[in-house]
Amino acid sequence: MAYDALFDTVFARMDPERIHGRAFAAIRAGRLVSERVYRVEPSPVTVMGIEFPHRFGLAAGFDKDARGVPGLLALGFGHVEIGTVTARPQPGNDRPRLFRLVDDHAIVNRMGFNNDGAAVVASRLHRLRGTAAGRDAVIGVNIGKTKVVPAEQAAQDYVESARLLVPLADYLVVNVSSPNTPGLRDLQAVDSLEPILRSVKDVADANLGRRVPLVVKIAGDLADADIDAVTDLALELGLDGISATNTTIARPEELRTPRARIDAVGAGGLSGPVLADRAVEVLRRIRARAGDGLTLIGVGGVTTPADVRARIEAGADLVQAYTGFVYGGPSWPSRLARAAR
Ligand code: FNR
Repeated sequence: MAYDALFDTVFARMDPERIHGRAFAAIRAGRLVSERVYRVEPSPVTVMGIEFPHRFGLAAGFDKDARGVPGLLALGFGHVEIGTVTARPQPGNDRPRLFRLVDDHAIVNRMGFNNDGAAVVASRLHRLRGTAAGRDAVIGVNIGKTKVVPAEQAAQDYVESARLLVPLADYLVVNVSSPNTPGLRDLQAVDSLEPILRSVKDVADANLGRRVPLVVKIAGDLADADIDAVTDLALELGLDGISATNTTIARPEELRTPRARIDAVGAGGLSGPVLADRAVEVLRRIRARAGDGLTLIGVGGVTTPADVRARIEAGADLVQAYTGFVYGGPSWPSRLARAAR
């Protein structure tokens, strides 16, 4: 059965988090892989000193605990950003916490950084790096703040994760833009952000034998002036890049899903095509301000090969997506990857 038909007849009726679990289990077991269909001719590109097979990768949140990187790469993603990982393990929010707005090909999530914690994820990555597939994989590691840690101790919490994970990461992302940890997004204000980025950068730079590039991930909900301020801070601190954008807390008028359903779903980060316009605008804005001084990871609303090209045209060096994968199925990553060479 074609993926669209399977989605409409089966997946649309099932609980989204259960489907995620089942689909990811199939990906990990390699059951969805077909060399013939998913093979993407590599056209290597060096970004932040790392060689990527092409510019398209899987955004953070899908493989929070680094359980399925080889299976995901086999579908055609050029890299996988794992996480968000927090210093301490945590269960995340109560279920249900993942919702599909099918009419918009969108998702609302309030997962709340459910993850195994930095120590467990580090040992999993360590084992993976000991395999042939793991050594060659390009893996970004996205870190966030443990929920119970107060904002004043955020820098220390990020540093704990960084110490454990930096040696295993191709690049590191400081996530301050997810809406589901109370107060996290306030850390995007430069006064709060600066000490976090400074201390994490010290850890990344001190890694033995290999400096690990550092990126900060922001939300498109930031006002333009705040985006400029983060851009200036990233340049001042010598960060490698900015990832834009995370999910939005807005519920734009243009959504086709009935308001009653949107209201019933409730709080969380909205993702999918509805993010696209702002995501492109933010990329252009940062590129115009930073020139060649920063690497840009373009995320948010990437669904079609044309979207991939639009992000690159707007200044992205790398392009990532998550929601499009859920609606597009297993052949989708390779189709987008072919536009990212
Ligand atoms: C996410 N995203 C996300 N981002 C992040 O930095 N850390 C995370 O843990 C998560 N978790 C997460 C869970 C779910 C269910 C979704 C749908 C998304 C955000 C994601 O990486 C991306 O920035 C946005 O979803 C926008 O891209 P798409 O989905 O429109 O391609």
